[in-house]
Amino acid sequence: AAAPDLAGRHVVVSAGGTREALDPVRFLGNRSSGKQGYALAVTAAARGARVTLLAANTELPDPAGVDVVRVTSALSLREAAHLAAKDADAVVMAAAVADFRPALYATAKIKKVDGVEPAPVELVRNPDILAELSAGRARPGQLVVGFAAETDHVLANGRAKLARKGCDLLVVNEVGEAKGFGTDTNAAVVLGADGSETVVPHGPKEDLAEVVWDLVSARLA
Ligand code: C5P
Repeated sequence: AAAPDLAGRHVVVSAGGTREALDPVRFLGNRSSGKQGYALAVTAAARGARVTLLAANTELPDPAGVDVVRVTSALSLREAAHLAAKDADAVVMAAAVADFRPALYATAKIKKVDGVEPAPVELVRNPDILAELSAGRARPGQLVVGFAAETDHVLANGRAKLARKGCDLLVVNEVGEAKGFGTDTNAAVVLGADGSETVVPHGPKEDLAEVVWDLVSARLA
């Protein structure tokens, strides 16, 4: 059994992918399964933490012993994240948040009309929740962790993103074959704002989750 090094701690984890509604039946979405976020939630609970899991459109069953809050869009995730973060020791943003949302929401289903070309979909930027949480720490000493999927120049892009977001740790995923979205495995480098660099070899998402909590636990101590 894992050491209860997170006992007495409250951790917030986001998982899955946001959906940005176009009309009552359509959305813009992404392929995030939520598996990495769920692995983080389950492993934190096993290490004694009280866990709030912000689940965005996942098809996974609620893990035992975890408070699950269901969210849909980036804006609903943002609201839930700021609320849950108020009394959190650590927030881990593992969800794939849409960078953009449709500028307009049609309250009735968008119809096709014979002989009429479809209107272009105009997008507006979503707030960067990770950057907001990092800039306005809800609690002194609160740790904020982000994820980043990179295809090239993984370390350089990761370092730049860590600085831009202002978080304490950034888990940089190399996206490719058996890594990342929808799979049960991941390989990553966890970059620390303190300059640390932790390589996590290709393996189950639970292994990466344990490394994240090792790093969080050491920094909370
Ligand atoms: O900028 P990029 O999307 O690569 O950043 C990924 C990280 O930022 C993830 O931790 C994700 O949860 C978070 N994010 C966010 N709000 C956004 C976009 C990304 O919190 N609007």
